[in-house]
Amino acid sequence: MVNLKEFEGKVVIITGAAQGQGEHLAKRFHECGSKVALMDLNEDAIKNIVEEVKPADEYEFKAYGVNVADSEAVTKAIDDFGKHWGRVDILVNNAGVLHKGMVETSTDNHINLMIDVNLKGPMYCTRAVIPYMKENGGNILNVSSILGTFPNTGAGAYGAAKAGLIILTRCWAAELGPYHIRVNCYAPGTIKTPMMDEIFAQHREESKLQQIPMREFGDVEDAFKLVTFFCSEQAHYVNGQTIGLDGGIWATQTPTAAWKK
Ligand SMILES: NC(=O)c1ccc[n+]([C@@H]2O[C@H](COP(=O)([O-])OP(=O)(O)OC[C@H]3O[C@@H](n4cnc5c(N)ncnc54)[C@H](O)[C@@H]3O)[C@@H](O)[C@H]2O)c1
Repeated sequence: MVNLKEFEGKVVIITGAAQGQGEHLAKRFHECGSKVALMDLNEDAIKNIVEEVKPADEYEFKAYGVNVADSEAVTKAIDDFGKHWGRVDILVNNAGVLHKGMVETSTDNHINLMIDVNLKGPMYCTRAVIPYMKENGGNILNVSSILGTFPNTGAGAYGAAKAGLIILTRCWAAELGPYHIRVNCYAPGTIKTPMMDEIFAQHREESKLQQIPMREFGDVEDAFKLVTFFCSEQAHYVNGQTIGLDGGIWATQTPTAAWKK
């Protein structure tokens, strides 16, 4: 079992922390006594979260209004937080955006947004954090998606970016392993966050549920449990892995066959 006391005093950066999984991760790490940087495009929202949490010191829980696709802004924010604490222990590359678009009609803007935020963003953040992790080791978590291995109509650019993140995870695990920086990845199926609001608004819950053997959606706390496992001593020798956080979508083509009548 993971001992959450391990995270006391750890220096943690969470991207996409204004809502959903990222907000929950940031708050839970703070509860564990970690020093947390919240990075998000939505500056007002992260500032409100900081105000709500009322940290004793600014750098204990600090908001950075940053677009992860802007490499200069990313480096500036990570330098500020990393220099203040003298190191970074954990980076969660969680920021992501999903807009649907069929290849025939997709615009340059759509293609660029999907690749810039979901693929280049984690590259910029990871590159910037390495100098602050090299001395003591650390953990980098990439947040991919079920759509990175199991494509969906209209989600090609997003899926390709998320598939790229799985390859980057292995590549970075090899490059950074000598510094004891472990790089792992998880691929959510359906987690209840604002990203899924559209699906719920369209009353597509039941058809979504029918894809999931566990017959339930994931929760943001499931993401926290997995992230803390990867970053804990329990996973000391786990590196370069991607694990599904999806209630077993990959287990079978016919989940409902096992459902009780
Ligand atoms: N919720 C799910 O079911 C699900 C499924 C598969 C993958 N994911 C992935 O999980 C991660 C977290 O998603 P979520 O469900 O919490 O979604 P969400 O939409 O609730 O939150 C995403 C956060 O990322 C931020 N963000 C978007 N673009 C950004 C940018 N350019 N720079 C900085 N921040 C930016 C948003 O402002 C938001 O706060 C994402 O990478 C997403 O692709 C989620």
